[in-house]
Amino acid sequence: MKQLKLTGFIFFLFFLTESLTLSTKPQDVDDSSNIQKFIEENTGSLTIIAFAQYVQEATIDEMEMLVKDMKAYKDRCLANQTLPECSEIANNVLQEMICALEGVPQKHNFSHCCSKVDFERRLCFLYNKKANVEFLPPFPTLDPEEKCQAYKNNRESFLNHYMYEVARRNPFVFAPALLIVAARFEEVAKICCEEEQKANCFRTKAAPITQYLKALSSYQKTVCGAYLKFGLKVLNSINIAVFSKKFPQIEFKELTSLLEDVSAMYDGCCEGDVVRCIRGQNQVMNHICSKQDSISSKIEGCCEKKIPEREDCIINSKKDDRPKDLSLREAKFTDSENVCQERDTDPDNFFAEFIYEYSRRHQDLSTPELLRIGRVYEDLLGDCCNRENPPDCYRHAEDKFNETTEKSLKMVQQECQLFQNLGKDGLKYHYFIKLTKIAPQLSTEELMSLGNEMVTALTTCCTLSEEFACVDNLADLVLGELCGINENRTINPAVDHCCKANFAFRRPCFEALKADKMYVPPPVSQDSSTFHADWCQAQNEELQKKKIRFLVNLVKLKPELTNEDLKTLFINFTVAVEKCCKEQEPEVCFNEEGPEIGN
Ligand SMILES: *[C@@H]1O[C@H](CO)[C@@H](O)[C@H](O)[C@H]1NC(C)=O
Ligand SMILES: *[C@@H]1O[C@H](CO)[C@@H](O)[C@H](O)[C@H]1NC(C)=O
Ligand SMILES: *[C@@H]1O[C@H](CO)[C@@H](O)[C@H](O)[C@H]1NC(C)=O
Ligand SMILES: *[C@@H]1O[C@H](CO)[C@@H](O)[C@H](O)[C@H]1NC(C)=O
Ligand SMILES: *[C@@H]1O[C@H](CO)[C@@H](O)[C@H](O)[C@H]1NC(C)=O
Repeated sequence: MKQLKLTGFIFFLFFLTESLTLSTKPQDVDDSSNIQKFIEENTGSLTIIAFAQYVQEATIDEMEMLVKDMKAYKDRCLANQTLPECSEIANNVLQEMICALEGVPQKHNFSHCCSKVDFERRLCFLYNKKANVEFLPPFPTLDPEEKCQAYKNNRESFLNHYMYEVARRNPFVFAPALLIVAARFEEVAKICCEEEQKANCFRTKAAPITQYLKALSSYQKTVCGAYLKFGLKVLNSINIAVFSKKFPQIEFKELTSLLEDVSAMYDGCCEGDVVRCIRGQNQVMNHICSKQDSISSKIEGCCEKKIPEREDCIINSKKDDRPKDLSLREAKFTDSENVCQERDTDPDNFFAEFIYEYSRRHQDLSTPELLRIGRVYEDLLGDCCNRENPPDCYRHAEDKFNETTEKSLKMVQQECQLFQNLGKDGLKYHYFIKLTKIAPQLSTEELMSLGNEMVTALTTCCTLSEEFACVDNLADLVLGELCGINENRTINPAVDHCCKANFAFRRPCFEALKADKMYVPPPVSQDSSTFHADWCQAQNEELQKKKIRFLVNLVKLKPELTNEDLKTLFINFTVAVEKCCKEQEPEVCFNEEGPEIGN
C-alpha cells in the first residue's frame, strides 16, 4: 500500500484559478481553471460521495451537516487563500471534518480512524469501506409521483439524496462515474415526470443507467483490487494492455508518459480521494486530447465535450485502427541476438514495451490474456537467458504465446458451449453449485450475486464477434470481486492462493479448483428441511431467488454430493413445491412429497 502516495493535491489549488505550481502554457491555465470551476460547483456532491463511500452507515442528515461545513470552508478559503487550513490536502480536510461531526465517529464505529493522522488516517478510511453492502436496506423505491414532486420542490436536495443512496451502495466506484450517473438520472426524471406512465418510464429508462454503473464499478473495483494487492507494476501492466489495444498508433514513449498520469489518477481514485480522482482523470484526458494526432483518430468528438462527459466518451470510444504497416510480429523480442542484454538493462521497461508491442498487434485479446502472455515471456526469458544459446531458445516464443492463447480460448469455448447446452437457468444452477463448492464460506447472498454476474457475462458475450475477449475480461471481474478490493480476504486456503498468487492467471487457477475439502458443513437445522407455505406466495423474481437461495444452501449442507445429484435433488424439490402449492394443505403434501434433504 506504500504506493498510495502522500503527494495529494493541495486544497487551495482546488479553488484558485491560477497557481504558481501549475504549468503556465495558456491552454493549461484554461484547463485548470475549468476543472477548478467544476470542482467548486460540485463541492456538495463530491462531499456526499466521499462521505457516503467512506462511512456507508452515515445518515442523510449527517451528510447535510458535512456539506454545510465543507461549503463554509470553501467560502473561507475563497475569501482568504492564505489561511493555514486552506493549504491542506483535500482528503485530509474532508476526513478532519467527518471526524469533527459530534458523536458521529462513535456512532458509526470509526473513531479509531480519527485518532490517526494523514496517510495512516486516509488508509484507515479506505479500509473502512465495505464491499458487501448486505447491511444496508435495499435501495429505496419511492412512488414515482412522490419522486417527481420531490424533484420539483427541491432539485438539489433530491439529487443529493439520490447520490447518497447510490454512493453508499457502490463505495468503490470513482466519483466522475457517479456524477455522470446522477446527471443521467436527472435527465430521466425530467422526461418521466412529464409522462402519464411514470413508473413504467422510470423502469425502462433507469435500467441502462444501473447497468452502466454496475459495469464501471465492477471494472474499477477489480483494477483497484489489483493495485492494492499487487502494486504499481501490475496496475501499469493492466493499463499498458488497455491503452495499447485502444490506441495502437501511440508510440511507446508517449504511452509511458501517459501512464504516469494514469497511475496518478488511479492512486487518487482507488484511495477514495474524490478531488484527486477528478483532477487525475481530467489530467489524463487533457493529455490524450492535446496529443490526438499521435494517439487516436477516434476521439475528436469526445474531446470537444465538457467534463465529465468528455472522460466518459473517451473511455467508451472505439478502438483505433492498427497502423497499416504494423506486422503481427515484433522481431525485436524473439529474433534479436541481444534480447537478454536488453532485458537486463532495464527489465521493467523492457517487459512493459513487450506488452505494449504485443497488445497493439492483438487488439482482439482480453486484458488478462495479454498479461498472461507477458508473464509467459518473462518466464521463458528467465529460462532461456541462463542457457548456452539463448537465441535458439527464445526464437520459439511465439509458439508459447499461441499455446497460452489456445488454452484460454478453449476455456471460453467450453463456457459458451455450456450456455448453449444448458440455457440461462441451467447455466445459473451450474455456476451456483460450482462457486458454492469452491467457496462455501461465503454468504449465500454473495454467492448468488457472483453466480449471476458470471451468467450475465456469458449471456452477454457468447456469440459476439469478440466473444473471447468479452468473456475473459468479464469473468475476470467476477473473480476480482470475489478476491476483494481493500482487504486480503481469507476464504479458504485454495481460494486465497488463487487470489494472491498471480493476477493474470486467476482464471485458470480458479478453473482448476475442486470443492473445498477442509470445509465442514454446518449442522442441519430443523428449519432447513421443513417446508414453508410462503413458497406458495412467492412469484416470479422472488420465487426464483428463493429457489436459488435454497440451492446454494443445499450445496453448503451437502458439498459431498456430485453436481448431478445436487441438480436432481434441486429439481425434485422445485417440482414438489409446484405440485404441493396447488393442494389444499401444501405443508402436508410437502412433508410427503418433499425430497429428504435434512439428513
Ligand atoms: C488572511 O489570513 C492571514 C493568515 O491567517 C491573515 O494574516 C490575513 O490578515 C488575512 N487576510 C485578510 C484579508 O483577512
Ligand atoms: C468497530 O470497529 C472495530 C475496529 O475495526 C471492530 O473491531 C469492531 O468489531 C467494530 N464494532 C462494531 C459493532 O462493528
Ligand atoms: C500463432 O498464431 C497466429 C494467429 O493465430 C498465427 O498467425 C501464427 O502463425 C502462429 N504462430 C506460430 C509460431 O504458430
Ligand atoms: C494485502 O496483501 C498485499 C500483498 O501482500 C499487501 O501489500 C497489502 O497491504 C495487504 N492489504 C491489506 C488490506 O492488508
Ligand atoms: C428425484 O425424483 C425421481 C423421480 O421422482 C426419483 O427417482 C429420484 O430418486 C429423486 N432423486 C433424488 C436425489 O431425490
